[in-house]
Amino acid sequence: MKIIKCKTPDEIALLCANKILNLLKNKNDAILGLATGSTPVKTYRKLIELSKQDNVSFKNVKTFNLDEYINYKNEIDSYKYFMYDNLFKHIDIDLNNTHFPNEMLLDKYDDQIEKAGGVDLQILGIGANGHIAFNEPNTPFDSKTHVVGLSQKTIEDNARFFNSIDEVPTSAITMGLATIMKSKEIILIATGKNKADAINKLINEKPSLLCPASILQNHPNVTIYVDDDSASLL
Ligand code: GLP
Repeated sequence: MKIIKCKTPDEIALLCANKILNLLKNKNDAILGLATGSTPVKTYRKLIELSKQDNVSFKNVKTFNLDEYINYKNEIDSYKYFMYDNLFKHIDIDLNNTHFPNEMLLDKYDDQIEKAGGVDLQILGIGANGHIAFNEPNTPFDSKTHVVGLSQKTIEDNARFFNSIDEVPTSAITMGLATIMKSKEIILIATGKNKADAINKLINEKPSLLCPASILQNHPNVTIYVDDDSASLL
């Protein structure tokens, strides 16, 4: 596992956007695994800006998102809308090439990813309790795409994106830990003090179901990007 310490979230965004761009310059039909949450937004903004500057096209790119809420009240609360708003509408990607897990597909989502050729580069954030995608603590390491009930901690953490905590969906569908581990390369971004404990466990403790992200220690090509705050317990 490679660890890159940056001073600020902006510095991380620049490095990660360039990493994605370099992949696309070498492979214009690359398959990207995408994450939602506030953390990757800066990377997506930089990616939009730099791809315009360098004339990099997303026409042949395919994307597979990590997760999606179940039973969201308004379309704009969905991760599909989040991705459209924060990335897809700003680039020339064909929306037919963008994929999200849903209840009908379940672990057929894993087959879909595999048939497409597998994820070349997976972008991850991390939950304060060490979850990746919506794989909460105690998710089996061999899990494929599945439905999950969200922990109270995750519901509270994600309430900031909704009008009130009562509107936060209580379940979601997520790539499993085994699905994520199949990616050829993974980058995980963590910023802010509330991620410091999870980052410390991910990097310094033995892989354990209690910190789902710790499974990444077993992957051959992972880079963790941390800022001063999220690295404060290292
Ligand atoms: C959600 C998403 C995760 C994300 C996490 C952290 O639970 N399902 O993929 O990593 O939130 O979000 P944030 O980046 O907003 O802290």
